[in-house]
Amino acid sequence: MERYKEWAEAQLGKARAKMAWVSEKNRHRIPYTTDGNGDYDDRADESREWSLDDGLNWWTNGFWGGIMWLLYQDTKDPKYMEIARFSERKLEKCFQDFYGLHHDVGFMFQPTAVADWRLTGDRDARRTAMHAANLLAGRFNPAGRFIRAWNEVGDSDTRGWAIIDCLFNISLLYWASEESGDPRFRQIAMLHADTVMEHFIRPDGSVFHIVEFDPESGKMVRSHGGQGFGEGSSWTRGQGWALYGFANSYAHTGKQEYLDTARKVAAYCVPHIPESGIIPVDFRQPEDVKWEDSCGACVIAGGLLELAKFLPEAGREALTEPAFRILKAIADTRADWTGDCDAIVQGCSAAYHADRHHFTMVYADYYFLEALYKLAGADIHMW
Ligand code: GLY
Repeated sequence: MERYKEWAEAQLGKARAKMAWVSEKNRHRIPYTTDGNGDYDDRADESREWSLDDGLNWWTNGFWGGIMWLLYQDTKDPKYMEIARFSERKLEKCFQDFYGLHHDVGFMFQPTAVADWRLTGDRDARRTAMHAANLLAGRFNPAGRFIRAWNEVGDSDTRGWAIIDCLFNISLLYWASEESGDPRFRQIAMLHADTVMEHFIRPDGSVFHIVEFDPESGKMVRSHGGQGFGEGSSWTRGQGWALYGFANSYAHTGKQEYLDTARKVAAYCVPHIPESGIIPVDFRQPEDVKWEDSCGACVIAGGLLELAKFLPEAGREALTEPAFRILKAIADTRADWTGDCDAIVQGCSAAYHADRHHFTMVYADYYFLEALYKLAGADIHMW
């Protein structure tokens, strides 16, 4: 394990150097991706026209603050706290909009407000996080025992849609119960996780992205391919959300089935990770398609490292080695350590069928840095 640590520490040295100027340059932005010049955009830019969930309500808007809190925890440089707070205060305005918000309030407010509260004890941050947790809990469908995912998606009736990504959002509910002593949030999170175990995890350990339930009766209707190649395929980032998400649920509840499910998903993922460490958008995409997703790769690596924490020493290497292989592939071949681009991780894909592939996404940088910190042995408690 020492060689992994040393290697991770060396990468973190490069990341600290790069983020020192990237953070300064983007102090007043909430970035999602970079443009052709390598400059970050700004999802909080009020001079632009955004649709309901594209601007300030955009689901990845918590990750910039999350990166800042990771760096603050590491360096104790108050600059990172100031920048994180700046984005957190802007995000609070989303509550007034309301309509653009959906289950991703977890991704938005866990790495910002919850991280702030945990690291600094700021009461405003706690209040913000509690608001978000209540919004998430309010999306629970008692008949189907799932948390509704998005709001409108084109012409689809999404009232009964649940998606695998939400396993990450429910950490906000675990936090809210731990913080308030009120078990309702945790109960909702566990009912949702139980439904995911029953309906999303296939016998071979691969997972569906979207499962549709009848919103009135709660009965399962069908699955959808979602951001993956198609129905029955295996969207890689979704496998990562499942693996890491069940490890998180186990960490918060100690429920053995969650640990077993995380291991089952890991047992499916690990043999599918190519020797090169470069991850496709979907483990079941056609062989001649070369689209990759560095972001999904980082989520899987983080999930493997999180899960390894709960295994006996003898079982850890089997998960740590593939996580290392992925992170090394990113660091050596998909990372921009120069001053030419604000983002570090390149080669991300939001969805298999999207028009655009192989670009930068701020949450890839978040999960890359978080995984490096984990590999270096830092005590990261974000989710
Ligand atoms: N949560 C949506 C995604 O992973 O793209």
